[in-house]
Amino acid sequence: MVPAPRRVLIVGAGAREHALAWKLATEGVEAFAAPGNAGTGQVGTNLDAAATDIPRLVELAREHAVDLTVVGPEAPLVAGITDAFTAAGLPIFGPSRAAARIEGSKLFCKQILRRGDVPTGLFEAFTGPARAREWIEAREDMPVVVKADGLAAGKGVFVCADRGAALAAIDALAADPVLSRGGILIEERFDGIEVSVMAITDGRTIVTLPPVQDHKAAFDGDTGPNTGGMGAYAPTPFVDAALLADIEARILVPTVHALRRGKVPFQGVLFAGLMLTPQGPKVLEFNARFGDPECQTLLCLLESGLGPLLAATAARRLEEVETPVWKRAAAVTVVIASEGYPAAVQRGLPIRGLEAAAALPSVQVFHGATRSDGGRIVADGGRAIAVTATGDTLARAKLQAYTAVREIRWQGAWCRKDIAEKGLLEEHRRAAAADGEGA
Ligand code: GLY
Repeated sequence: MVPAPRRVLIVGAGAREHALAWKLATEGVEAFAAPGNAGTGQVGTNLDAAATDIPRLVELAREHAVDLTVVGPEAPLVAGITDAFTAAGLPIFGPSRAAARIEGSKLFCKQILRRGDVPTGLFEAFTGPARAREWIEAREDMPVVVKADGLAAGKGVFVCADRGAALAAIDALAADPVLSRGGILIEERFDGIEVSVMAITDGRTIVTLPPVQDHKAAFDGDTGPNTGGMGAYAPTPFVDAALLADIEARILVPTVHALRRGKVPFQGVLFAGLMLTPQGPKVLEFNARFGDPECQTLLCLLESGLGPLLAATAARRLEEVETPVWKRAAAVTVVIASEGYPAAVQRGLPIRGLEAAAALPSVQVFHGATRSDGGRIVADGGRAIAVTATGDTLARAKLQAYTAVREIRWQGAWCRKDIAEKGLLEEHRRAAAADGEGA
């Protein structure tokens, strides 16, 4: 057995990283976070390094004698943090630069999916906007998705209802100094229910995590601009045990194999963004890390140890670890954001009510963009706080999450009011259908 880690460095500064540090701390692990936030500072020690300052992170891992590093966000993975740590002989959880391209390049992702015969949308790839425009103009008017090829922090995907919207999206990509650097993909657009299914893998063995539903649109009813995620809940009734087994067999396992066959074995979290269509689940995208806020939701349901799972994955000995044990419960995470998010926000506003919220039963308050400022905790960016509550039903978890959210206040703070609502409606629909069958 791979020994459980005792000292872990967590790279990143969001609520996902606070949740990782919190869960590890409950297991007796000494957690360090770089750069961390006010929340990681409460459960561990914050270290002064940007998440992409790889040479400094290598130094800090050595200096603090950590026995494992866990990478939260995608940018350091795509920049090669795993390669640098591995070269330095330091264990690290997360894919190599080459394997992280499954998130860093939409075209690479599609090539892997094609190699694994994994269900996904048809697509065309273009090196620049002129050819993409020509292609759209030559086709019949149809809904499509226009995507920038590289990392875009959620800003590079345009869901287009018609030709006019697609042409406007291509123009927007061409006009953006960052998004215009790479190619453009135009994909078939699907309608359906979107879910997140993540698996921990060492490149051979996979451990599929419970299905989660994120809420990416800013406002209630899935309206408004796209965000990093305004809330999540698990397990979602849209994915029952049979569908989860199908997703594992037809999507996750073939993707892991296709990566290995392509000589880019993947270790870390493989995160499938899926659309549930009448023809079955289709891959919208893959990410190379835990989702945020999906991670907070899942870690509040994980009863068994996280440290052994992460350490065994990094050692490529995941087959030695017991299957994780999940609480027979539901969890709901609600993100509280600063005024203006996902556009620019005012920083430095003091947050009140964090202790009162955290004191409620079955509630965890995770810090995202926060920092300590002379004894006060202040909001330091858009998604500042994520509140997760568990309950024996989804309805109870939701009620408790919003009870806690009401305690937390700062000027201009807001949240979606309908997190988990789709799941509750689906539960009612299924119960009514089962009653109908029984009658
Ligand atoms: N919540 C979606 C993501 O982490 O990409």
